[in-house]
Amino acid sequence: MDLTTKYLGLNLQSPIIIGSSGLTDSVEKIEQLEKFGAGAVVLKSIFEEEITLEYEKMVEEESPNRYKDDYLDYFDYRIRQENLEKYIKLITEAKSKVSIPVIGSINCTTSHEWSYFAKSLQKAGADALELNVFILPSNLDLTTDFIEKTYFDIVRKVKKEVSIPIAIKMSFFFSNLAHVIKKLSTSGVAGIILFNHFYNPDIDINKLEVLAANVLSTPSELSTSLRWIGIMANRIGCDLAASTGVHDGASVIKQILAGADAVQVVSALYNNGPEYLETMLNDIKSWMQDKKYDKINAFKGILSQEKYMNPALFERVQFMKYFSDRK
Ligand SMILES: Cc1cc2nc3c(=O)[nH]c(=O)nc-3n(C[C@H](O)[C@H](O)[C@H](O)COP(=O)(O)O)c2cc1C
Repeated sequence: MDLTTKYLGLNLQSPIIIGSSGLTDSVEKIEQLEKFGAGAVVLKSIFEEEITLEYEKMVEEESPNRYKDDYLDYFDYRIRQENLEKYIKLITEAKSKVSIPVIGSINCTTSHEWSYFAKSLQKAGADALELNVFILPSNLDLTTDFIEKTYFDIVRKVKKEVSIPIAIKMSFFFSNLAHVIKKLSTSGVAGIILFNHFYNPDIDINKLEVLAANVLSTPSELSTSLRWIGIMANRIGCDLAASTGVHDGASVIKQILAGADAVQVVSALYNNGPEYLETMLNDIKSWMQDKKYDKINAFKGILSQEKYMNPALFERVQFMKYFSDRK
């Protein structure tokens, strides 16, 4: 059974990519994931905001009055460099130990840093870059156009600096999602990841406090990316990777049938350990054997909206029939 496939022009030994998270933050973990059959790994994002927070904490603790502006600039620079150097070391060492693609991930807030980090990661040997763009459209004063433009500006800036493939990991918080995905697919990115997973809020009704809900996804979250992979597959100019809610081999198969070129997995491995990857891949192989598919391309996208004889199923949003049929 041939599980190899292509994503962002890279050769993957399997369609399962380990998504950006703490699962990929050391060379040892990456080596283990390769052994269990990962097609590629996306490193934990390097966050500009995290670096800025570290700097602000340092300034607060060290009393800013002790330093002149020049010194503060120096500390800012040093913290940035130390974080970046740690990240670069991880890429370089991982590249020397594994043969699966190592994809760097960046989350920045200022345009200058997107370019600087991207260039540094390419120089370190990253096979591709994932731009983790995380904009919750919660600002009452920002227009749709402004938010969309931010995505395109980031892609343009990074694209100017690097020659390795770029993928963008986006959220579904758009009023015209299909159009934005289509437009992004012609902006120079080699792939789009549908979708990013936000921290969700919850409320403790006893303590009357707002808190963060579980950071791990549940299998029920699969359907959002499945719908949009199905709708967009074969209709856009770049690869598609599915992310969020993929907890077993069957979900990987569903995403590929819908048209995903690769499938990212995180929570399932936090829940079951990295060795669970092998179980997922074995389940995919058994299913392929059963259905007589000898390679991934043989069933990729055959149930996408563009190919399926009942395309309306991907767009059905109303429950009218469901409830009227129920006794
Ligand atoms: C502990 C943890 C850390 C994560 N860190 C990052 C990150 O640094 N960058 C990023 O783009 N996504 C990050 N994610 C999101 C995952 O890459 C993924 O998009 C999300 O977990 C949904 O996939 P899943 O349903 O397979 O878990 C993180 C997720 C978890 C659970």
